[in-house]
Amino acid sequence: MITTEMYVQWSLQYHLFWLRILKEHAIFIEATMPPPGKSLALAADAYKQNYDLFLITAIGLANGVIPNEVLQSGQYYTQFTEVAEQIAQQYTGININTEITISEYDIEPLSAPFNVTSNMEQEISLLNQNILSLTGSFVQFQSQLLNNRSSCGIFTLMYTGDILHILLEAKRYQMILSALEDKDEEAIENYKTFWTHNMADHAKVMRGQFDPTETAYFNRANMFSNLFDTLYGEEMDPATYPSDATLLKSTSDIRDFKADTTEAIIQCDVQSIMLPLYTDHLLREANHFIFLMQ
Ligand SMILES: [Fe+2]
Ligand SMILES: [Fe+2]
Repeated sequence: MITTEMYVQWSLQYHLFWLRILKEHAIFIEATMPPPGKSLALAADAYKQNYDLFLITAIGLANGVIPNEVLQSGQYYTQFTEVAEQIAQQYTGININTEITISEYDIEPLSAPFNVTSNMEQEISLLNQNILSLTGSFVQFQSQLLNNRSSCGIFTLMYTGDILHILLEAKRYQMILSALEDKDEEAIENYKTFWTHNMADHAKVMRGQFDPTETAYFNRANMFSNLFDTLYGEEMDPATYPSDATLLKSTSDIRDFKADTTEAIIQCDVQSIMLPLYTDHLLREANHFIFLMQ
């Protein structure tokens, strides 16, 4: 069982990360949808708007609740997020509310042990249940999209493997939220295999979305794909399970690669079919994995 203070703090810590991640999945679905999928693009836009509303609520509730080192961990926003959002809006025509990002810079950190009022606990509980309900619907939407895409009923410019990837991330958030609602301390159990597998997926999508002429970036992404496939394989057997130091070092390395790539895309120093908001998103997921390990 977790205490009420942990319940409130952990809920908000996870929301600030996951609400933005799921909102961006909706943006990526919309941005990669050709004209025949217009109704799907509109549905994705509605999920984006609903996640925005919950993110604004979570930011409002987070003042004085989250330690400064967590706020500064690079899992909620990075030095690139705001400009990457502006570029994504300019390139795709999708409205992206950068005011939300700017408001996150001013979240007041936890300064003293806080006491949770029953009012606050109720607000968090209501927020968690509302997010669970929206995410249940988003999971269904993505499952249908995956089925349609993999059976060739529709075409989108998002890889089938990436649709599966974002679906599994939404299910992960559902699982964490359900565990928090049960006040279950094992809410983040097995996060290492989940995130190791994700780092391998990220490297593979990046490998496939650099311009074919960008050999150095392609080779680097391929190296990380092999590295995280190997680490994931080793995690399947307790006898070969990688050390925390190895996982941390490898994730820090891919994090640096994602940061370099995001900067290079923003500066137009590398050609690709990735939005800088996409690589910044992958960067924040690496920072989240690093945060969980520390
Ligand atoms: Fe993601
Ligand atoms: Fe991911």
